[in-house]
Amino acid sequence: MENYRTVYCGKVNQSNLDKEIFLSGWIKKRRDLGRLIFIDLRDRTGIMQIILDPEIYPEATQIVNQLKPESTITVQGKVIKRKDINKNIPTGEFELQVSKIKIHSISKPLPFQIEEDVHADEALRLKYRYLDMRRNKMHNFVKIRHQVTLLVRNLLSELGFYEIETPILSKSTPEGARDFIVPSRIQPGKFYALPQSPQIYKQLLMSAGMERYFQFARCFRDEDLRSNRQLEFTHIDLELSFVSEKDIQNICEKIIQKIWKEALNIEISLPIQRMSFDSAFESYGSDKPDLRFDMKIHNLSELFKKTEIKFLKNVINGSEKAGGILIKNKKFSRSEIDKWTKKAKDQDANGLLVFKFKEDGSIDSPIAKFLHNNFLNELKDLFGELTTNDTLFIVAGNYNQTWEILGNLRLKLAKELKLTDKNKFEFVWITDWPLLEWSEEDNRFYAKHHPFTQPQPNWKNMDPKKIKARAYDIVCNGEELGGGSIRIHNPKQQFEIFELLGISKKEAEEKFGFLMEAQQYGFPPHGGLAFGFDRLLMQITKTDSINDVIAFPKTTSGKCLMMNSPSRIESKQLKELHLQINNNDK
Ligand code: AMO
Repeated sequence: MENYRTVYCGKVNQSNLDKEIFLSGWIKKRRDLGRLIFIDLRDRTGIMQIILDPEIYPEATQIVNQLKPESTITVQGKVIKRKDINKNIPTGEFELQVSKIKIHSISKPLPFQIEEDVHADEALRLKYRYLDMRRNKMHNFVKIRHQVTLLVRNLLSELGFYEIETPILSKSTPEGARDFIVPSRIQPGKFYALPQSPQIYKQLLMSAGMERYFQFARCFRDEDLRSNRQLEFTHIDLELSFVSEKDIQNICEKIIQKIWKEALNIEISLPIQRMSFDSAFESYGSDKPDLRFDMKIHNLSELFKKTEIKFLKNVINGSEKAGGILIKNKKFSRSEIDKWTKKAKDQDANGLLVFKFKEDGSIDSPIAKFLHNNFLNELKDLFGELTTNDTLFIVAGNYNQTWEILGNLRLKLAKELKLTDKNKFEFVWITDWPLLEWSEEDNRFYAKHHPFTQPQPNWKNMDPKKIKARAYDIVCNGEELGGGSIRIHNPKQQFEIFELLGISKKEAEEKFGFLMEAQQYGFPPHGGLAFGFDRLLMQITKTDSINDVIAFPKTTSGKCLMMNSPSRIESKQLKELHLQINNNDK
């Protein structure tokens, strides 16, 4: 039997009826009913029932014991009508009357059953990733990834972008994480770094006159892993010359609109709303606000300033702030309030002040008597009508920390109150980012985005903490889908920014001399953005784990359980690479 397949299992239809065909695939299930043996044969398109009748195919009795689940076979036979139609599968009207079988590979007993509703633990599934990927759900993740890749490629190509690959063996790039390092054999004592992003290459491609670049770029960052973070991940990386923020954002919006339309049949209306970094933080305590639900943070500092409450002393004297979030239509029991207070304290809040409201509209709280007469009216000016069903959570303290705590409580509350509908998509551009971020630990500024981001005009005589960047992030449902900026194209300005960052001329020359040199040979104004492709796919497939959308992911401790990497290397290899392992690490 040389032929493998006339048609895919899941595609058998009326046109194949009464015809001799070949099918190939995996044995999903086998049922023995007296002399007849029924097999569900699966390939990537679906399932077809095949039937072995020793009267028609006498050899069946000799091989039947080898037909173990998940073994691979090719069968030849005639498509016939089924008596008991299975309405759950598209091929349910037909079955294949087998006249010949070829067994390719007999499967051992499986480490876990390949069922949609899998119960095996994650580590086992990652060890046998190729088995886990036989499930429909996992297969679909792979398929959607391919489809979205293709449509983005086509769209960007139509829009005049070139797809250009950039090196993996590279030099340290300043995206703020630790580098993965590769020792050089030919250059003793020297190392490549794997790119945290192709940032500098894409800027150099603009110098090269490519005008519009994109790449599905592999990025490598040695950082602590989370449900939306991997050590290696993929960017849809873009860069364009002679453009403004708006031009770049328009293209990104087209990409988003196309993906959501094709993948989910959802119409995203454009333009996507814009919100400054400062107002996002003020209202949501986050630079990636989830706008599927309201529950904004309101500043209550002024209201408390006029009160006598001692423990709000620092709010009253103006050095700290009080913020509140109103939870509409939710009454909290005593034990629930204790739980939420603990959640606030776990984030270092001093406490959680909770106001309920009585039938007569007054505030139900032991501290109500210390509030000034007009407090409730001022509260209503901020929040609107307040009823016995509503609850107000208040936290006071240092502005940044308090707003972050409230922002986190807001997200946790929304999750618990089921306000995070996965079928709803709320996009927002976060603009006007601070250029710099102060590190108490290192007593210096770092670039909030990266050191090649252009500051907004008139930055020179400003307090460095107040300088804004020509940077923007695209956020969807509280997830940072991508980030980008307009870059510096003037070497003088680049030096000035390095200076602000405490990077000396010598260090700048050493690390980025090649970029600064390129800036001196006619550098076009340019900018770009990188989408986190894996995070974008998480949104489309509505999954909470980045692992689902990556064929071979690593565990949170950075291991590939399937290949057992990272692993030791032989001493011969170490020697060739001029490396020695510290005795303590052996
Ligand atoms: P940035 O560092 O913001 O920008 O990265 C862009 C996007 O990549 C995604 N992302 C990640 N996804 C999975 N795992 C990770 N460890 C991870 N880290 C980041 C996020 C993020 O928004 N060179 C700039 C882009 C530019 O300026 O053009 C850059 O890398 O979705």
